[in-house]
Amino acid sequence: MPVAAYDEIADWYADWVGGLNEYSERVAKVLRRLIPAGEGRTCLDVGCGTGARAGVLRGLGWRPIGVDLSTGQLRHARQLLPVAAADAVALPVATGSLDLIVSVLTHTDLPDYPGVIAEAARVLRTGGRFVHVGIHPCFTGAFADRSDPARIVVDSGYHRRERRWDSFTTQGVRNRVGAWHLPLAELLNAFGRAGLEIVDTVEAGPDDGVPDLFAVAAVSSRRPSTA
Ligand SMILES: C[S@@+](CC[C@H](N)C(=O)[O-])C[C@H]1O[C@@H](n2cnc3c(N)ncnc32)[C@H](O)[C@@H]1O
Repeated sequence: MPVAAYDEIADWYADWVGGLNEYSERVAKVLRRLIPAGEGRTCLDVGCGTGARAGVLRGLGWRPIGVDLSTGQLRHARQLLPVAAADAVALPVATGSLDLIVSVLTHTDLPDYPGVIAEAARVLRTGGRFVHVGIHPCFTGAFADRSDPARIVVDSGYHRRERRWDSFTTQGVRNRVGAWHLPLAELLNAFGRAGLEIVDTVEAGPDDGVPDLFAVAAVSSRRPSTA
C-alpha cells in the first residue's frame, strides 16, 4: 500500500475543507451539475478524505460510501458516511457493480491517476458514471503562481510530472503533502483509454477569476458481458 500522506494533517484538512467556504460550495455546485439523481442508489467516493462531499451526494439522492488510504482522514469521514480503508487503484468492489463513482480533489495525490480512472471503469456498470473534480491542471499547480487571482503566471514547469511541494502560498495542501501533476491532455486521454466516454466537462473559479477547478463526467461504454 502507498504511504498515507494525509494522516498527519487530517485535523487541519478537516478544518480547511469543512464548513461553509466558497471553495467547497463551488465544488458542490460542480457536483450538482454533473451528477444525476441517485434515487437511493449507492455511490462510491474514492479518496473521500474527511467525507466533505457526503452531504452533497446525499442531497442528490445517493447513498455514499467512502474509501481512502488515510486512517487519519477516515477518522473524520466515518462520522459522515460508511467508509473503508482501501487503495484507489485496487478497490475492494465487484466488477460492474456501481452506477456512480466520484473522486474529488484526488488526482494530484497519487502518481498514477489514470490507474484510478481505469479502476473506476472496472467497477462501474455499463452506463454508470465516473465524476472527476480536480484542481485545474493548467492553472493550478507548482508551475502556477496564483498570488493574484486575476492574473495567474504559468511557467514551463507545467511539463514536470513529479511530486512537488513548492507553492506560492504556505496556506494550501501542496506545501504540506506535495502534489503530482497530470497535464490536461493526459488526464483527458485516460478516460477514453479506460472505456469511459466523456459526456460533460466544467471549469470553475472564483467570480471573474481564472478557473481553479476542472471537472469531467464520463460514462462507461463497456458492452454488457454475454457470459
Ligand atoms: C485533497 S484530499 C481530497 C479529499 C476529499 N475527496 C475532498 O474532496 O475533500 C485527497 C485524498 O486522497 C486520498 N488518497 C491519496 N492517495 C490515495 C490512494 N491511492 N487511494 C485512496 N485514497 C488516496 C488522501 O488520503 C486524501 O484523503
